[in-house]
Amino acid sequence: MWHEINKSVIMQVKRFGVSLEENVLESLDEFVKTQNLPNRSQAIRHLIKNNLFETKKAGNSIVAGAVVIVYDHHKRELNSKLMQVQHDYHELILSTQHVHIEHDLCLETIAVKGNSKKLIELSNKIIGIKGIKHGKLVMTDLE
Ligand code: NI
Repeated sequence: MWHEINKSVIMQVKRFGVSLEENVLESLDEFVKTQNLPNRSQAIRHLIKNNLFETKKAGNSIVAGAVVIVYDHHKRELNSKLMQVQHDYHELILSTQHVHIEHDLCLETIAVKGNSKKLIELSNKIIGIKGIKHGKLVMTDLE
């Protein structure tokens, strides 16, 4: 981990000129404002990284993320099905946090790491279980 942090600290920053249409530049400035970014360089960096990550996900690279679900634990067989899917994909699951968020509602956060396509497959299986009220997979880059 330290090695990674160290690498990014010594990464050299290079300057280059960018030509943009006026309306695109206005959109970029708007983006800087709404995202609370310090300047255009940070905005461009952010946009490039996000875009590259989308390509990476499509390419089935190893990423990390979390599946967040909300469900009613009274629903019949939901708990055992949820447990079964998690055991079927145990090699992708780092941890599971269960919170009793309301009297009938449970919030579960399942931290995952693995090939993006496998994580999507797992997430679809979890979210597709009958009785899951809402679910979402968030993936993030490891670089
Ligand atoms: Ni609960």
